[in-house]
Parts: sequence; C-alpha cells; structure tokens
Amino acid sequence: TINALFDTHGRQTTYLRLAVTDRCNLRCRYCMPAEGIDFAPRDELLSYEEILTLADVLAGLGIEKVRLTGGEPLARRDIGLLVQGLGQRFRKLAITTNGILLPGQLDQLIADGLTNYNLSLDTLQAAKFARITRRDEFAATWAALEALLARGVNTKINVVVMQGSNDDELADFVALTEHRALDVRFIEAMPFNDGDGNHHLFLSATDILARLRERYPTLAPAPGEANASALHYRVPGFRGGVGIIPAYSRSLCGSCNRLRLTPKGTLLNCLYSTQGLELRPLLRAGAGGEDLAALIVDFVRGKHATGHDTERIEQVAGGAFASMTSIGG
Ligand code: GTP
Ligand code: 5AD
Ligand code: SF4
Repeated sequence: TINALFDTHGRQTTYLRLAVTDRCNLRCRYCMPAEGIDFAPRDELLSYEEILTLADVLAGLGIEKVRLTGGEPLARRDIGLLVQGLGQRFRKLAITTNGILLPGQLDQLIADGLTNYNLSLDTLQAAKFARITRRDEFAATWAALEALLARGVNTKINVVVMQGSNDDELADFVALTEHRALDVRFIEAMPFNDGDGNHHLFLSATDILARLRERYPTLAPAPGEANASALHYRVPGFRGGVGIIPAYSRSLCGSCNRLRLTPKGTLLNCLYSTQGLELRPLLRAGAGGEDLAALIVDFVRGKHATGHDTERIEQVAGGAFASMTSIGG
C-alpha cells in the first residue's frame, strides 16, 4: 500500500499547516476588516478529537511537521490540549502567532512539544502597530518575543512588507538579527481581503532585497532549511538570519512540501487553491483511517505545479476567501 504523499511533479508532502480557528484578537488591515469576517460557527470547526484522528492518518502518510496557524491559534479555547496531543505524534510542532496570549503559557507549550515559533510583527513602533492591527498591543507582542528569546527556542519574526507603511523599517528589523538568535522574514503582501487587492501595498521580493542591500550591502545568500518558504540571507557576522518570502511571486513552488487543513476541515494543496477535499463530513460519518488515507493520497497526487496564474489569484482574493484566516496562511 502507499504510505507517502507524492504528487505528479516529484514533490513529497511532509508538512501540514493546520488552521485551528479563523478568529483573532487583532484586526490587521491586510487580513481582516475592522468588524471581522463571518466567523465559522463552533460546530463547523473540526473538534480536537477529529483533528487528532486526521493527525494519526497523516502521520502514517509521512507528515513530519505540523504548524498551527489561524486566525490566532492561541485564541482557540484550550489549545494546550491539542498541542499535547500533537506533541505526542510529531517531532516538529510549530506555531504562527501574534504572541499576545503566549507568555503565560509558553513554558507549558514548550514542555508539551511545541518546538518552533513564528511571531507576526510588522512594525517596531507602538503607534504604527496600533494603526496596522487596530489594537494597541505592541507591548504584549514585544514581551512574547523577549520570552521566546529568553528560552532559546527556535524563533522567527514574520514581517508583511507594506509600501508606505512599514517599508521604512526594513533595516531596523535586520538590525534585530545582529545580536539575537532569530530569523527575520519579510513577506510579500498578498491580495487577500481588500477592495483593491492590496496592490498599493505590494513590494516584490526583488524590491525588498534591493532595499535591504541599500543599508546592508554585504547581505549574502545563506543556506536555509530545506523546502523553506523563504529565500535565506545573512549579514556576515550577525547572529541571526534574514528571509524573504515570495508569497505572491511564488518562485519557491518547486520545492513546496505543504498541505493545508482549514478550520472547517477542508484539505488544500496550495495557499491559492479553490478546490479542496472536505474531510469534516467524512469524519462525522465515521470514515475509517484506511479510507481517509486513500482519499488523501489521491488528493495530493493531483497537486498543481504552482499556484494558479495571477489573474486567477485575484479572483480568489476577491471572492473565494474573505481572509487568510479561513485558509490559515
Ligand atoms: P517555516 O516552517 O518556519 O518555514 O514557516 P512557514 O514560512 O512555512 O510558515 P509561516 O506561517 O510563518 O508563513 C509565513 C508566510 O509564508 C505566510 O505569509 C504564508 O502565507 C506564506 N506561505 C507559507 N506557505 C506558503 C506556500 O506554500 N506558498 C506560498 N506562496 N506562501 C506560503
Ligand atoms: N499578505 C501577506 N501575509 C499575510 N499574512 C496574513 N495576511 C497576509 C497577507 N494578505 C501573514 C501573517 C502571518 C502569516 C501566517 O501570514 O502576518 O505572519
Ligand atoms: Fe490576526 Fe494574523 Fe490576521 Fe493579523 S494577520 S488579524 S494577527 S490572523
């Protein structure tokens, strides 16, 4: 029997991005409108029991790394219970979080096997943070960063680059890597959830690199993790690293190893997929592990070589998904 997830483009899927909620305690402008989106009712979310059933199937199919995303994963009730369950099943367990709810539970999360922490932080200025996120929580996010660094766990900062908003701070973020064991990653703004598709904000990976080199001419390509979503660089002599994520240009699709599970239990092969495999009804009808595994193997085999063309992406952005939070980023 087949016990691994291969597609027809020679890629193996070993990484699951697991979105556990579409809710969030911030309202970042590129992500959600001020009033929020039409959040999923609780009974439409996969339960922890259902998630762990799928986790067992996926672990059997060669998934080695799971990342909790959302929405804000720590905003889901009793998330620590899910972390415990996943920690027993996967060696590499990661989270992408805004950090606000992190400090109080960090030690427990580490003890339960959460190994990698990506912190979303788009500005180092408190007033600007409040404008971008519509909440006055800079201090809380900064406290999360300090808590992570104090414990020495693997930490990355995600910065969504927005022209005219935080593009004057790129070098300040690189400066954080001089003495801290930390990666700072700059993300191309993606055209989700915005009337004009966030185009006024967009700076390409190429432009971002050029900007960084104005202040840091010695910034040089450096080896990164295999199958990474980021192009990796380093300022010689600096302790941490710098990444650029071509989320919109999609130049790294050839090494993509990811599968996504939405909060409502739909599997997606790509951030830009519109067609998914709806697992929730199957789970609720009591489908067995073997049947689920066979369906998932078939589904991943059909993964496209890359995200659809740009025009298609804009249709997706304009309609199919109200926010990144309904797919988990
Ligand atoms: P690592 O596990 O540390 O490599 O993190 P990651 O980059 O996989 O995850 P993270 O949640 O920190 O995502 C950072 C950014 O990369 C987000 O904006 C994601 O939407 C984007 N991203 C993640 N996976 C993909 C992908 O498969 N394709 C594209 N185009 N962008 C992605
Ligand atoms: N464009 C780029 N990145 C985005 N994120 C959320 N929405 C967007 C967008 N429209 C980022 C978050 C987080 C990661 C999972 O995705 O800031 O770091
Ligand atoms: Fe929340 Fe992340 Fe969306 Fe910001 S980008 S509103 S932190 S889910």
